[in-house]
Amino acid sequence: MTTAATIPVSLGSRSYRILIGHGLLRALGDHCAELPLTRRAVIVTNPAVNRLYGRAVSASLRRAGCHTSVVEVPGGERAKSLSQTARLYRAFLRHRMDRRSAVVALGGGVIGDLAGYAAATYLRGLPLIHVPTTLLAQVDSSVGGKVAVNLPEGKNLIGAFHQPSLVVADIGTLRSLPSRELRAGLAEVVKYGMIADPELFTYIEANLDAILRAEEEPLAFLVARSCTIKAKVVEQDEREEGMRAILNFGHTVGHALEAASRYRRLLHGEAISIGMVVATRLSVMRGLCGGDDLHRLRSLLVRMGLPTSTDHSDKTLINTIGYDKKVKNNIIYFVLTKGIGHVTVTAISDVRQLTAALADAGGPA
Ligand SMILES: NC(=O)c1ccc[n+]([C@@H]2O[C@H](COP(=O)([O-])OP(=O)(O)OC[C@H]3O[C@@H](n4cnc5c(N)ncnc54)[C@H](O)[C@@H]3O)[C@@H](O)[C@H]2O)c1
Ligand SMILES: [Zn+2]
Repeated sequence: MTTAATIPVSLGSRSYRILIGHGLLRALGDHCAELPLTRRAVIVTNPAVNRLYGRAVSASLRRAGCHTSVVEVPGGERAKSLSQTARLYRAFLRHRMDRRSAVVALGGGVIGDLAGYAAATYLRGLPLIHVPTTLLAQVDSSVGGKVAVNLPEGKNLIGAFHQPSLVVADIGTLRSLPSRELRAGLAEVVKYGMIADPELFTYIEANLDAILRAEEEPLAFLVARSCTIKAKVVEQDEREEGMRAILNFGHTVGHALEAASRYRRLLHGEAISIGMVVATRLSVMRGLCGGDDLHRLRSLLVRMGLPTSTDHSDKTLINTIGYDKKVKNNIIYFVLTKGIGHVTVTAISDVRQLTAALADAGGPA
């Protein structure tokens, strides 16, 4: 068991640590014992993740004297529902959870969002411990305190800000992750390079083969660097009132693509990959960065096996963007790049440029 990095997230009384390393699942109980919690916990997970890691996590909590039970929810985005939330509330009740009993979210972003939302609302808030097992959850969804479930009408419509008490990212769990999920998570890591960290971007370019083989050292480096960036942004803007918007680089078009494909064809990271290419193309058109930045971004994403173009029409996408949360008074606020590692939030009122950037994204890359 090694902790490769500990990243503090400083939010006053809501501060917490992100532990990143190998074999950390077995030490979870000890880390929980350091928190002001009662000895009672519910682990929320899904059947696939439970089979792989459920036993290690419950054994570790039990060894630390914690009375633990496991609740499984079905796999897939559909689990982020109000009906699954109600099932969790009843499990918390059966397990006699009080306001210092922990909810342990063991799984990817779906589990983190669902268990997190239930934790945020049951008894007006229970302590939450994220144990993310996908790359996306380790670099993104487990950090920052956003939790949510979906309505049939749209994603993440019911949610809260609820910071975890601890995040334990065991890099070893990424070994069992399907390659497509790993690659999709990498899109978010590339995003951190694009918005804040040119060295991270160069590191990914230089070490991509080892990263795609899921080698621990480079993955631990990527997770630590990504969490450091996200933590800094969240510390400055916990409730997304301003600069946290930069985390949405590639997401305006990405969300539209996910909605247009009804969340079926594209994984989130795959949609973000295309979205980042469109945002960078728009940045080139507006003279904010050079064509070489676009070339580097696109080459890296292609090497990762991620899509960089779409066959959805620009009209469909622009209509869908119209419903996005980032549109205010008919002006689309777009996160654009001023070169790898630097972003700017720009108001786009002339939709023609966006149409052109999207049209260029059509067809093969
Ligand atoms: N709260 C936030 O800030 C935030 C940020 C980004 C995304 N999200 C949410 O995250 C969700 C997507 O998360 P995701 O990409 O992690 O998908 P996911 O949770 O659906 O997990 C992907 C798949 O991998 C499987 N899996 C998980 N860990 C595994 C492992 N170690 N080995 C083998 N299989 C494993 C899961 O069972 C699932 O089938 C979306 O609902 C999105 O809205 C939230
Ligand atoms: Zn994202």
